[in-house]
Order: sequence, then C-alpha cells, then structure tokens
Amino acid sequence: MGLFSMISNHRSKNRFRRMEQRNKKHASTRTEYLLNDKTPFNVTEAFRNLKAAISVSVPKKSEGVVIMATSAYPEDGKTTVTANLALMFAVSDAKVVLVDADIRKGRIARYFKRKSTPGLSDYLSGQASLSDVVHRTRANENLSYITCGTHSPRPYELLESDEMKNLIEELKKYYDYVIIDTPPILVISDALALTPIVDGAVLVCRHEVSYVSDISRAISTLRFSKANILGVIVNDFKESSVRKYGGYGNKYSYGYSDGYGYAPSAETTEEDKKA
Ligand SMILES: Nc1ncnc2c1ncn2[C@@H]1O[C@H](COP(=O)(O)OP(=O)(O)O)[C@@H](O)[C@H]1O
Ligand SMILES: [Mg+2]
Repeated sequence: MGLFSMISNHRSKNRFRRMEQRNKKHASTRTEYLLNDKTPFNVTEAFRNLKAAISVSVPKKSEGVVIMATSAYPEDGKTTVTANLALMFAVSDAKVVLVDADIRKGRIARYFKRKSTPGLSDYLSGQASLSDVVHRTRANENLSYITCGTHSPRPYELLESDEMKNLIEELKKYYDYVIIDTPPILVISDALALTPIVDGAVLVCRHEVSYVSDISRAISTLRFSKANILGVIVNDFKESSVRKYGGYGNKYSYGYSDGYGYAPSAETTEEDKKA
C-alpha cells in the first residue's frame, strides 16, 4: 500500500460539474502562498524533504537540472508547489529559475507582485529579450523567475519550438535548477510539449480531491510521452482524516511518493476503491 491509498476515489456522474463549481468558487478567492518566517515548521519541513527527495532522484550533472510539475486538473496545487519548491532550492543555496509555462492561465507573476507580461510567450515569439523576462525575487537572491507572458493562441507550438529548447539550454548554463510550472495535462496537452526537454516530471495531486483514476490517467499520459516521472506529490495532505481512517501517522502537509512503485494500475482495484 502506498500514498495513493490515501487519496479519495469516490465516483460520481456529476464530477466534472462539481469540479467546475469548485474551480469557480476558488477562482475569486485564490491566494498565493510563499514559505516565509511565519510558515508552520511542518510545512517548511515537508518542502525541505520534497526538495531532498527530488534532488536525489535526478542524477547530478555539470549543467542545471530541469524539472517540470504538472497535475491532472486545475486547483491541485501545481503553482503553489512549484513556487515553494523553487524557493526551497534557492534557500539551500542553489541558483534557481522558476518558469511559468502555463501560458493560458499562469499565476507565477502574482507570487512576486508583478505583471505577467512580458514573459515566456513574448520571449518565445521574439517580442522580448531574455533580460526583459528573467526577474530576480526579493524572497531570495538565488531565485529568479519568468512569468507566462502575453496570452497566445498557440501555446503548445510555442512550448515545443526550438526557441523553447534553446531557452532551456541557455538557462541550464546559469542555474542549478530550472523548475517549470505547467497547465493540467488532462485538460490541455501543453505540458507534454516539454517532456522531451526536461530531466524529470513530478505529478501533483490533492488529498481528498484528486481521483485515483485521474491520477492514473495522468501518469499514463506522461508515460506515453516518455516523461521521466520522478514521483507524485500529495498536496494539502490532511493528517486528521488519515488518522480517522487508520492510515499513516504522517505529520506533514505534503507527501512525496518516489518512482513508479506507488502508482495505481490503470484499472482501479477493489483495494483502491475502499481507500
Ligand atoms: N496545501 C495547500 N493548502 C492550502 N491551500 C492550498 C494548498 N495548495 C494549494 N492551495 C490553494 O489552492 C488554490 C489552487 O492552487 P494552485 O497552486 O494555484 O493550483 P494549480 O496551479 O494546480 O491550479 C490556490 O488558492 C492555493 O493557494
Ligand atoms: Mg497553476
């Protein structure tokens, strides 16, 4: 039994409608949360562990390591996890650039109180230079970021372009980690354009919100595009509900399951359903 058994697997004919409602409800109240001095110890510690787990799962190279985060659906916590993971790497003295590749609905700019334009899409379409789009953060001097940029009618094409490939090659020369936030893969395929140019992908799911079947489909989609799946991050993990149902006594708000070992099979088993 792995971390997946803690994830809600209720099935409902209305689940897409409910998901839309959930997205609408959250859209107006969305917040951006970056680790700081007042963050509870267990949350900071969970990100530290996540950072450590990821750094050991990617072999060290002479150039920077490129990691992308994705998830099945919106609101799973991709942006929250990527922004804070990038910050955690920066805190531990690595030079990091956070790239917002969610050209449709990117929110990285909001974390740093900046406009999202000009950004990645503007650079890729030749409308902005690299120095126009790479910004330093006040949160940490090792952390830089690139916002998503101007809305484009063809994000997938921009992300799979030679310009994107060359940009990543260039960033790898200057940064130890290039961390890329992407749109949800079961909604749009933009993230798949990046799998050939990243060293590894992490899949974010949300405790008691994500369906095992959706996570399984997301994993299959990533595998199909030959992504090196480093692991699955269980975001918004609720210790109390796991205790109640007799699960692990894991005290962290974020869990991390490395490798394929914990992945559910494509067919949901009886055991999964009971979880
Ligand atoms: N672990 C968490 N605890 C509390 N709120 C969270 C957590 N993770 C994400 N959120 C909130 O949920 C919303 C969606 O998160 P976000 O990272 O934007 O998701 P995504 O990028 O997958 O669409 C945001 O308002 C964010 O602040
Ligand atoms: Mg996001």
